Amino acid sequence: MQAPEANRLKSLPKAEVHLHLEGCFEAAVIAQWAKLEGVALPRPQEDLFKFSGLTDFLGFLDLACGLASTSERLVELSYGLSQRLADNGTGYADVIFNPTHWHAWHGRLGAMLDAMDAGFKAAEQDGLPPVGLCVSLLRTQSADAATELVDSLISMRHPRVVALSVDGNEATAGRTGPRFADAFRRAGDAGLRRTVHAGESSGPEGVWDAVDLLGADRIDHGVRAVEDAVLVRMLADRQIPLGVCPTSNLVLGVYPSIQEHPVERLRAAGVRVSLNTDDPALLGASLVGEYGLCRQAFGWSDGVTKGVARTSIEASFAPEHIKASLLNALGSW
Ligand code: ADE
Ligand code: ZN
Repeated sequence: MQAPEANRLKSLPKAEVHLHLEGCFEAAVIAQWAKLEGVALPRPQEDLFKFSGLTDFLGFLDLACGLASTSERLVELSYGLSQRLADNGTGYADVIFNPTHWHAWHGRLGAMLDAMDAGFKAAEQDGLPPVGLCVSLLRTQSADAATELVDSLISMRHPRVVALSVDGNEATAGRTGPRFADAFRRAGDAGLRRTVHAGESSGPEGVWDAVDLLGADRIDHGVRAVEDAVLVRMLADRQIPLGVCPTSNLVLGVYPSIQEHPVERLRAAGVRVSLNTDDPALLGASLVGEYGLCRQAFGWSDGVTKGVARTSIEASFAPEHIKASLLNALGSW
């Protein structure tokens, strides 16, 4: 992308709604912490982020997150994520965090949330963008584990937490909508928002379950909905937004090329889509890059680009005053 286009896209007022803290480790940081901890890396540093697919990738998250064993390291990661948002001109982000990957912290959810919160607070005090946390279940967890997490979140009522999420590998876990329905109902009743990974490692049936069984306010990925015309119409009619991550889908092998990626077909069919990076450091994505990629591949005009940015803001779980201010700035972009 040429520098003037990158600068314009950086200046586009936008939010990011599908971004994992687990995906924000720099290779050099992993190498440094692994050395300090005496942990062997699976590959040389220059090949560290070469993944064979989603299963390999999720296994790597356990290794990387396992190294973040202290509050200082969590603060550093959270602050670094906020810096990444600012570098892309992102005005707000909903950040997914999945406690199962962070082995050193098991059983200490409150302390973990406090450490991340300290990193995000320090970032905001330095003028970096605000962040809300979406605490995530893993698809392969049990119904009891899901209930336990939701009950902890409800009793803590941590001010940084805005939503319950579920991520992980649906192809491995099989159909788990029914298993998590009760946990998502309880979260919704307690005032948490709900966001669900589906239609990446599952087909349209995963997206149906996300809506019908989990009450999803938003779908993370959701792109394989395109395989079911009735589902596409339902998503468009009900204006259920998709947090789409084109580069992630290419790197992890969901689609072979951007030309074959369905984001434009979904958008043209009236589905609300936003662009996101998923796991930016590990998958080599940036938010400015995602907008540039789609503008180039699909010929998106400035009007279409603004519409996608508008969806990102409206679909976010940001406080109303932040949404209003970003939408106002978008109007004059
Ligand atoms: N966790 C982090 N990135 C993910 C992805 N792309 N799919 C499922 N779970 C994830
Ligand atoms: Zn994701």
